[in-house]
Amino acid sequence: MLQNFRLYSQYYDLLYKDKDYALETDYIDQLIKQYKPKSKNVLELGSGTGRHANLFSQNGYHVYGIERSSEMVNIANQSKRENIEFQVSDISAFEVNKQFDIALSLFHVISYLNSNQDLILTFQNVYRYLNKGGLFIFDVWHSAAVHALIPEKRTKQLSNGKISVIRNANPIIYPEQNVVEVNYDIEVTDLKSGTKTVFTEKHPMRHFSKPEIELLAFATQFEILHSEEFLTKAIPSEDTWGVCYILKKI
Ligand SMILES: C[S@@+](CC[C@H](N)C(=O)[O-])C[C@H]1O[C@@H](n2cnc3c(N)ncnc32)[C@H](O)[C@@H]1O
Repeated sequence: MLQNFRLYSQYYDLLYKDKDYALETDYIDQLIKQYKPKSKNVLELGSGTGRHANLFSQNGYHVYGIERSSEMVNIANQSKRENIEFQVSDISAFEVNKQFDIALSLFHVISYLNSNQDLILTFQNVYRYLNKGGLFIFDVWHSAAVHALIPEKRTKQLSNGKISVIRNANPIIYPEQNVVEVNYDIEVTDLKSGTKTVFTEKHPMRHFSKPEIELLAFATQFEILHSEEFLTKAIPSEDTWGVCYILKKI
């Protein structure tokens, strides 16, 4: 099995320190209030280092996170607020003895599911643990934008005063699979000693068209209530990298 997020987890929050988790949480909270007001219990798939979970807890939700990487869960547990639990499991094969009003999967977690089988198993699992009428809200890479914008090599550099991290992303496009394999070369420098650590990780990301999500929803007994560009609420276009889908359990 692919072992990403093992070493990457240590640098994840630094690499995404400028990501506006509060804004994203408010955006999702608005969607929940619009489509299923009075929701309380949230199942979060791919909960990562728990940053959305903490903010949803502040907004009064109870969050149960499922996350495959034990390293990510260890970090999440260090700053966990009340009414939050995390379980180390794969989102295509977990069991839990609770039911939920809302299932969330944020920051392209569903795009990490490359095979139709893993997608179907995950959607079926979400169906199983949602209350009737419950919502499944997630954002995924958008095929139209991948075809139009074509992923390129990118470099990101961040520092927290103790270490600096340089991440080079080299994408390999697999057009027949609707997958872009993002290969990260990461160099971490200890700013005091000058010691460098270098490692690599593969993040194979699947992108989706709306008809594919419609088919997945149909096959697993969801209906699509709405889709829009993540955060901006714009109608998805060739410039829309992340599309947010709101599905309802029939
Ligand atoms: C880009 S991170 C997003 C984390 C978090 N949702 C956030 O917004 O910061 C993707 C996360 O999904 C998790 N993940 C990917 N595939 C998974 C799977 N099949 N089962 C459980 N977790 C998975 C990874 O371990 C990683 O923590």
